[in-house]
Amino acid sequence: MPKATFLGHSAFYLEGKKGRIIIDPFISGNPTAKVKLQDIKVDYVLLSHGHGDHIGDAMEIAKANRATIVAPFELANYCANKGASVHAMHIGGAHQFPFGRVKLTIAHHGSAAPDGTYVGNPCGFLVTMDGKTFYHSGDTGLFYDMKLIGELNTIDLAVLPIGDNFTMGIDDAAKAVEFLKPKMAIPMHYRTFEVINVDPAEFVKKVKALGFNGQVLAIGSSYEF
Ligand code: NI
Ligand code: MN
Repeated sequence: MPKATFLGHSAFYLEGKKGRIIIDPFISGNPTAKVKLQDIKVDYVLLSHGHGDHIGDAMEIAKANRATIVAPFELANYCANKGASVHAMHIGGAHQFPFGRVKLTIAHHGSAAPDGTYVGNPCGFLVTMDGKTFYHSGDTGLFYDMKLIGELNTIDLAVLPIGDNFTMGIDDAAKAVEFLKPKMAIPMHYRTFEVINVDPAEFVKKVKALGFNGQVLAIGSSYEF
């Protein structure tokens, strides 16, 4: 069974039989992160958008591991121009990588790099490893197409932002769970900054009231899906 480890904020490390990846590795700039950059060993780095709290340490991790960055086309080009090896994709497209299959989904948000360069549209990811499907929505507001994502995919684990202000808040994230029907929902993108200081237990309570499974994953903890 593949394993997802929460590294804080929206950063997840996924380990399957055929490879290891990291998504949105905001580590050194995140005071709540526990893992050390030099301890991260991955084959691929997936980036949902260019904001600093997502692109994070992607360049350093990619270079240190000779890992490939997978991102929407404009963001991939931005990373390639800075010396990373990249695999560009775009929304609606899927690709089979050695570790598993990745499909890019829509996300309603912005995507500028920390230096102000605009790097296209943000995305979410459906990652299928060892026959199990993980959905990382990226930063997004609630959107009705999540219902379609839930219809077309059996989602074993969904990770969703709940912090409000920049993304869905708790009520909208609970509605997203209703649309996606994942076997397990785990909250992300909360408490890192004062403005997104919400209680993840509240999200779990609402998800359970709707008849779904939710769980708060402590930073550094893993969930097998
Ligand atoms: Ni963002
Ligand atoms: Mn963010």
